[in-house]
Amino acid sequence: MMNPRIKTLCLALVSFAAAGMTAQTPTATLTLHADEPGPVINRNIYGQFSEHLGHCIYGGIWVGPDSPIPNVRGIRSDVVAALRQIQVPVVRWPGGCFADEYHWKDGIGPAKDRPKMINTNWGGVVEDNSFGTHEFMDFCDQVGCEPYITGNLGSGSVREMMEWVEYMTSDADSPLANLRRRNGRDKPWHVKYFAIGNEAWGCGGDMRPEFYADNFRRYNVYLKDYPGNSLFRVACGPSGDDYDWTDKVMSIVGKRMNGLSLHSYSITTDNWIHKGSATEFNESDWITLLSHTLRMDDYVTKNAAIMDKYDPEKKIGLMVDEWGAWHDTTPGTNPGFLRQQNTMRDAILAALNLHIFQKHADRVAMSNIAQMMNVLQAMIFTDGPKMVLTPTYHVFEMFKVHQGATSLPVDLATPDYVNGTIHIPQVSASASRDGNGLVHLTLVNTDPNHPVRVACTIAGAHGATVTGRVLTAPTMQAHNTFDTPDAVKPAPFSDFSLSADSLAVTLPSKCVAVLEIAP
Ligand code: AHR
Repeated sequence: MMNPRIKTLCLALVSFAAAGMTAQTPTATLTLHADEPGPVINRNIYGQFSEHLGHCIYGGIWVGPDSPIPNVRGIRSDVVAALRQIQVPVVRWPGGCFADEYHWKDGIGPAKDRPKMINTNWGGVVEDNSFGTHEFMDFCDQVGCEPYITGNLGSGSVREMMEWVEYMTSDADSPLANLRRRNGRDKPWHVKYFAIGNEAWGCGGDMRPEFYADNFRRYNVYLKDYPGNSLFRVACGPSGDDYDWTDKVMSIVGKRMNGLSLHSYSITTDNWIHKGSATEFNESDWITLLSHTLRMDDYVTKNAAIMDKYDPEKKIGLMVDEWGAWHDTTPGTNPGFLRQQNTMRDAILAALNLHIFQKHADRVAMSNIAQMMNVLQAMIFTDGPKMVLTPTYHVFEMFKVHQGATSLPVDLATPDYVNGTIHIPQVSASASRDGNGLVHLTLVNTDPNHPVRVACTIAGAHGATVTGRVLTAPTMQAHNTFDTPDAVKPAPFSDFSLSADSLAVTLPSKCVAVLEIAP
């Protein structure tokens, strides 16, 4: 019979090998400063974006009241339930490029009387305007989130934008408020977030920053704060590293704005014609895309530094209101609909970006991943009555513990994950403490093949119990389909040990993990 001590050692070695660990398994060291609370993480960092594009609205949110798909006043119930699970704080609508061709009066009143339009940006399909202001507000009420409206600066008028604000937010006995009442809504809605145009440097009017900034000032004068409603006015900011745009808009618009947008998509090839497949990729594509997405830290840091020049008190929020992975569209789908699969790689990409936004919680006031349903880096796919959650959805669900929590600084010394000539940090981490005193540490291992140890010191707090969950998969390309909806989903995680103020964690390859440390 085997000596019990040797047997224990053998079993330990077996589980060590099963976890893919060797004596050379790299170690990251992390100090979590529970005693040095940082800024509150704005829950709007977990915001979403829904555009009239492909099946984001039609089929994704809206099926109409006569649909056999279960719905409440035309809005699909399965989608609302799934979005409530991730505590969506805010949804941006109606675009995107679509916003600068959208005329809101076409989307109110009896559906049968609403004029149609061509959605010139997205597939040239005919938009019947059956989903308009009332339907969007109803959707927000059902999800329990705030609306974030983008006004049409590119092809609209000052009067049109001014009247939309009055229609939505005035309680007066005025023509527009009465029109809203005749359309079935007595009380005004609460609308805080309002953007004056989208991508004015591109599809929103191809403007120079000086021209846009002067237009912002003009439109802004006529957008009124009606009693009980105060607008948070968002100016169009740069695409990624267009720092000249940021500088000029900050200097000309200044504190007339409450927020400045930033858009940045992550593309494997950096080539907008052939962006790279969402599912057919190798390890070189994996690290390339992740290295590209990490540029977000630079974009936020440098744009925030310019904002600091004009707004040292950090009153103006940076609104990263479009971000995410942009791959080639799924073969066989309408290329104008931007439908793409969502793999374990996208989940890692989402977690890395959310960590970046949390690191800059003093300036980043909102982010809106593009897009919520069926488009680009979606949370959820639908097909008729079917619905499936993506790996990115699961990251948002795991990270919801950070919403509105107090950020806690982490000092991280991590080995690099290297492939070919590209090096990226193997571990990414972020921490916060919630209103109940629970500390949450989220961790990412970017290496698709090797585990990593993380030796954590928790300064200023003693954890009594730790629980965890992990999102990982056997392959980099793993994804969920309507037939295999649970191929990538969170599982309980216990590969850690706690002693006094030290926590030793072993992260499996290609994973996102969340640990809850209770006092
Ligand atoms: O999200 C898709 C498009 O990307 C948006 O309509 C536009 O604002 C951006 O260029």
